[in-house]
Amino acid sequence: MKKQIAVILGDGIGPEVTQQSIKILDAIAKQYNHEFTYEYCLMGADAIDKTGSPLPDETLTTCLASDAILFGAIGHPKYDNDPTAKVRPEQGLLKLRKSLQLFANIRPVNTYTSLQHLSPLKAKNLEGVDFIIYRELTGGIYFGKKETSADGQSATDDCTYSIPEIERIAHLAFQHAQKRRKKLTLVDKANVLETSRLWRKVVQDLSSQYADVAVDYMFVDNAAMQIIVNPKQFDVVLTENMFGDIISDEASVISGSLGLLPSASVGSSVALFEPIHGSYPQAAGKDIANPIGSILSAAMLLDHFGLTVEADLVRSGVEWTLQHGFVSKDIDPINCYSTSAIGDLIRDFTENKLPTDIN
Ligand code: IPM
Ligand code: MN
Repeated sequence: MKKQIAVILGDGIGPEVTQQSIKILDAIAKQYNHEFTYEYCLMGADAIDKTGSPLPDETLTTCLASDAILFGAIGHPKYDNDPTAKVRPEQGLLKLRKSLQLFANIRPVNTYTSLQHLSPLKAKNLEGVDFIIYRELTGGIYFGKKETSADGQSATDDCTYSIPEIERIAHLAFQHAQKRRKKLTLVDKANVLETSRLWRKVVQDLSSQYADVAVDYMFVDNAAMQIIVNPKQFDVVLTENMFGDIISDEASVISGSLGLLPSASVGSSVALFEPIHGSYPQAAGKDIANPIGSILSAAMLLDHFGLTVEADLVRSGVEWTLQHGFVSKDIDPINCYSTSAIGDLIRDFTENKLPTDIN
């Protein structure tokens, strides 16, 4: 199979974690006779420094001409600490999501037996946790009208959703639930927000088309608690943009580290794959970041190409390293391995070059 992948290394630890994924994709390509070519593009603080824009036009053009996008991370503290900055790195990612209509962000959450002791949750609550968050990604408060009043005394962020915007992601979430444990939980704030009441109505109306899927509805404040006290109850979680951003970071604690979680963003054209973590500037360039969120995102990219055997092999490599204690600093600050060492091990695993009897 021949595929062109647009690679956006981005900011902070983005480059070093994404390089591990590329190393592994290259090994997979060699072994299974695929040809992956990479087109490197700029976005974020890196792009602002080099071009003045957080999303240069060439990046958009290259992404549109590619079969998938692999993205690292975005953000730089110099912007976080300057609320008046007009041009911000995150604008690049938001514009890319909007321009490519990447309306569904899919974030799987599961647990690894070997990491359970790291979770703040009790082991008995972790066994069998396996759910997937469908976060709406191109609407809601992220994309509403934003303004600060002329006197600077107040500010506004509008939150709007239309029925088609809700329907298109709800269909994907229902269809995924049908292939899993057939349960869908809509997370909203329908006791307060008008947009949430629209989400509830749309999901209720659609549910008759998916009679085999059990639907329940949960207010986001309760969901935030349920994710901690009883995460096993969830199968597919469907929610709007900002609630999804918040509860997916929260849910990452269940797995053991934010650094482990991948995501896929899909829509009407080319799909994008990125870890859910941020740019972690304190670790940038130190070869200490966890590459697994990116590597599992690359596995989702392989799935997206229909290369499920290859994707499963990458996932087995990840599990092998975690089981054998080859983990990064976020997971074990004392006995830890570097970003690139973990990438090498997972690559070697996919090439069958590792002894299987290491303890
Ligand atoms: C994420 C990130 C982004 C978001 C930021 C960097 C704009 O937190 O992908 O979850 O809020 O969507
Ligand atoms: Mn986030």
